[in-house]
Amino acid sequence: MIGAGTIVQLGHIPRFKAIPNVEVAAVVDVNEARARLVAEEAGIPHVYSDYKQMLAEVKPNVVVVATPNVFHKSMSIDALQAGAHVLCEKPLALSYADAAEMMEVAAANHRVLTVGTHYRWTAPVRAAKAHVDQGFFGEIYAARTVWHRRSGIPGYGSWFTNKDLAGGGALLDIGIHALDRALYLMGYPKPVTVSGVTYAKFGTRGMGLGGWGADRQPSTTQARFDVDDLTWGFVRFENGASLQFQVSWAAHTPTQFQTEIFGTDGGASVGDKDQVELYTNLGGQDVVIRPDIAASVGNSYERLIQNFVRYLDGDPTAEIITPREALIAVQIIEGLLKSAETGQEVRLG
Ligand SMILES: NC(=O)c1ccc[n+]([C@@H]2O[C@H](COP(=O)([O-])OP(=O)(O)OC[C@H]3O[C@@H](n4cnc5c(N)ncnc54)[C@H](O)[C@@H]3O)[C@@H](O)[C@H]2O)c1
Repeated sequence: MIGAGTIVQLGHIPRFKAIPNVEVAAVVDVNEARARLVAEEAGIPHVYSDYKQMLAEVKPNVVVVATPNVFHKSMSIDALQAGAHVLCEKPLALSYADAAEMMEVAAANHRVLTVGTHYRWTAPVRAAKAHVDQGFFGEIYAARTVWHRRSGIPGYGSWFTNKDLAGGGALLDIGIHALDRALYLMGYPKPVTVSGVTYAKFGTRGMGLGGWGADRQPSTTQARFDVDDLTWGFVRFENGASLQFQVSWAAHTPTQFQTEIFGTDGGASVGDKDQVELYTNLGGQDVVIRPDIAASVGNSYERLIQNFVRYLDGDPTAEIITPREALIAVQIIEGLLKSAETGQEVRLG
């Protein structure tokens, strides 16, 4: 296991340990004191500050890469080449070329590489997906996916707001989750063009802080902030479908987490936790259906790792984020950033 970051400290290790046949053997962090703390709390036998040493000595079957984004590629490749399957935190990589290279290494070593975009395992998305699979929507021709935080810039002044370490801000941090939810429900069609705009209007003023991660500097101090805090985009797909995309870490707007699906026979508004509505027309009458999903609301990250482990155990019913899906998500993210930089629509190869 690599990386003792917040994501690990906030309870994911017990989730791994709760899975039968899973033993969490080691925790690694360049900040050894942090790794030691996590290991002591969770009863993990080995602590390392050098992940290559851990790979050589522990020889893990599975590695979780949960470090700042810029390290995802090299750590995942080293782990795959050392014979481990890898669950890499999101975003998988900072460029499509890097993500493709990672997947090639995984394939060449007959290892599984997947990514931690777990929001498709939330109850509302599962409910909507069940209706996708039953043909409720007809042809899904459009979607809109939104994750607006009003005040939620994580780790101000830390790696999160440093472009060299994070590669991007709201887009790579939470936008990738919003994107996966929509693409998953749309059946991951092949994207052909992407148009995007990015802004940094709050973080650059030390405003809009909060959310995930501790701020490394007081909000009154001007910390490094050279990533986006709001990104909007538009994607066209080969099958004629389209996607509107909106994400912010901070903005003068209500907090919103919603994916809308537009189909020829039905539509959906898919929220967070237990909010999902389906729309259709029955006998000439517009109707709204509210599936009762309260009982199935659980932890989506837990479901992601349970599926990953079952997949590795050969369970044909287990579902992971596939290489194709992971690559498409990175391709769109890269296209959005490129389009924002050039002011032009980007055609994807
Ligand atoms: N799937 C999710 O919902 C979710 C949620 C939060 C974070 N994340 C992802 O998890 C990753 C980590 O985020 P976080 O919030 O835990 O960050 P964090 O800053 O709390 O932790 C990152 C850790 O990585 C360590 N680190 C840095 N460089 C290292 C290196 N070279 N070798 C070993 N360790 C190193 C740091 O010392 C730190 O302890 C990011 O990619 C983030 O996008 C995913």
